[in-house]
Amino acid sequence: MLDRLAELQEEALKQIETTTDLRALNDIRVSYLGKKGPITEVLKGMGKLSAEERPKVGEVANKVREAITLAIEEKLAALEKAEVEKRLASETIDVTLPGRPVRKGSHHPLTAIIEEIEDLFIGMGYTIAEGPEVEKDYYNFEALNLPKGHPARDMQDSFYITEETLLRTQTSPMQVRTMEKHNGKGPVKIICPGKVYRRDNDDATHSHQFTQIEGLVVDENIRMSDLKGTLTVFAQKMFGADRKIRLRPSFFPFTEPSVEMDISCKICNGEGCNVCKGTGWIEILGAGMVHPNVLEMAGFDSKKYTGFAFGMGPERIAMLKYGIEDIRNFYINDRRFIEQFKRA
Ligand code: DAH
Repeated sequence: MLDRLAELQEEALKQIETTTDLRALNDIRVSYLGKKGPITEVLKGMGKLSAEERPKVGEVANKVREAITLAIEEKLAALEKAEVEKRLASETIDVTLPGRPVRKGSHHPLTAIIEEIEDLFIGMGYTIAEGPEVEKDYYNFEALNLPKGHPARDMQDSFYITEETLLRTQTSPMQVRTMEKHNGKGPVKIICPGKVYRRDNDDATHSHQFTQIEGLVVDENIRMSDLKGTLTVFAQKMFGADRKIRLRPSFFPFTEPSVEMDISCKICNGEGCNVCKGTGWIEILGAGMVHPNVLEMAGFDSKKYTGFAFGMGPERIAMLKYGIEDIRNFYINDRRFIEQFKRA
């Protein structure tokens, strides 16, 4: 019996040794250590042994069992480790591969134009003012010399929120808000960029939301010639040193006199072409001397102070500067359009 046990152990260990997969190893365990296995079989025959032999054989049988169990456990661990290593090898990450490039954004062309204009005016001593897009009727119209029922209100179809509040139709209300803050004392010298809203149907030249930049200078002895000089510098820096400007009489309720400014057409140099519709001039902005009523309503003594104001549309300026034909391009966020204005 002892021989048989030694034989079984040797046989089992050899098999375990040469196994290369987990399933075969499990089969070995079942066949040697299971209830119908040869060791159990040997133990069953123990009843025929003498009382002295029995514990000896029992002891050896247990040792054989332990040896086989241990061998199986070791093999199991080795096979599992090999398995993991194989998986790791086949799933390695190549850290030297180049990563996916991160796509860089770019300035929106309107932001770029607005910042360019801001820089230009900051260089002339202006500060930037910003104000609410949801505005009081009082600031958007009344304090700008447009009382309720004034026909010129119709030029700016508005989105009203309540009877007294609306989405501002222009950045001009910031003239009033700024002057109020100055408590009747000059000088005031600001530009105010921002979004404005009008109830227009969108097409190539209209957008229900667009941007404006307002300018306001109030002090003693401010004259029309100051306005003209400022706008000439602006036009030449923006559109080229050889641009000429011209002021045409116009009407705005908050300025008197009011003008519209044209620049000489860059495409034809004033000869007349499609872009300037044969006139040689292109309209750029509205401006004028601040109306005494506006000064007074905002707390300034109109006998002591005078001022000029102007308002322009960055979309229009960008369209002229870059030859953009449809205002909707600014708002549909097509990257093929926006990315053309990437700054160096
Ligand atoms: N707010 C005017 C508009 O939206 C533009 C404008 C004209 C502003 C003349 C001014 C100005 O400050 O003096 O049509």
